[in-house]
Amino acid sequence: MTQDELKQAVAKAAIDAIRPQLDSESVIGVGTGSTANCFIDLLAELKTEFDGAVASSDATAERLKGHGIPVYDLNAVTGLEYYIDGADEANGQLELIKGGGAALTREKIVAAVARTFICIADDSKRVDLLGGFPLPVEVIPMARSHVGREIVKLGGDPVYREGVTTDNGNIIIDVHNLQIDNPIELERQLNNIVGVVTNGLFAQRPADILLLGTANGVETIKR
Ligand code: A5P
Repeated sequence: MTQDELKQAVAKAAIDAIRPQLDSESVIGVGTGSTANCFIDLLAELKTEFDGAVASSDATAERLKGHGIPVYDLNAVTGLEYYIDGADEANGQLELIKGGGAALTREKIVAAVARTFICIADDSKRVDLLGGFPLPVEVIPMARSHVGREIVKLGGDPVYREGVTTDNGNIIIDVHNLQIDNPIELERQLNNIVGVVTNGLFAQRPADILLLGTANGVETIKR
């Protein structure tokens, strides 16, 4: 199977997982990226079976609206049963690196609100140790140099992602060459640097379920 077919397969598996729970009041949290886009396109076929969605990025909001799916502000909903999103890396504890598409902060907010975070990914994203994928950090622009120096003290190599402004008006620093033995602690340390909005480690709030697309079918991994 191609990587695109694996993404389609996990998107379909996520639809199958949530569909029995949907009703006319359901609002679904929806992530960002190519795998999430597969999910959105399938979700459109069920749009009469739920109320609407909360989007983790402007791009996702546009895609949802393009399908005629109502998009709500997170502050307008009382809760989310599900958040469905992709990842750049996932380990065996379902801790993730996210933010390759620069949407990490809104993704982390929606994930924090959702009762169940279902991560959908092809098996190229599965790793034993997080950190092969450069860790994205969203930073207030004036703090760029300060944050870079603090990241070096933590043992990482910061690289400014040129030409990218997040939906929140900030910049992204990608941190290379990190050995992430303790994702929860590193997530905390990075978030404690003044000027950091958040970082792309999803360890304090990992996924609850990982639907992993493999050549042998979709594996369901639960915490
Ligand atoms: C977006 O900021 C990311 O967190 C994405 O979820 C991640 O990059 C996965 O994207 P793909 O599904 O395109 O690989």
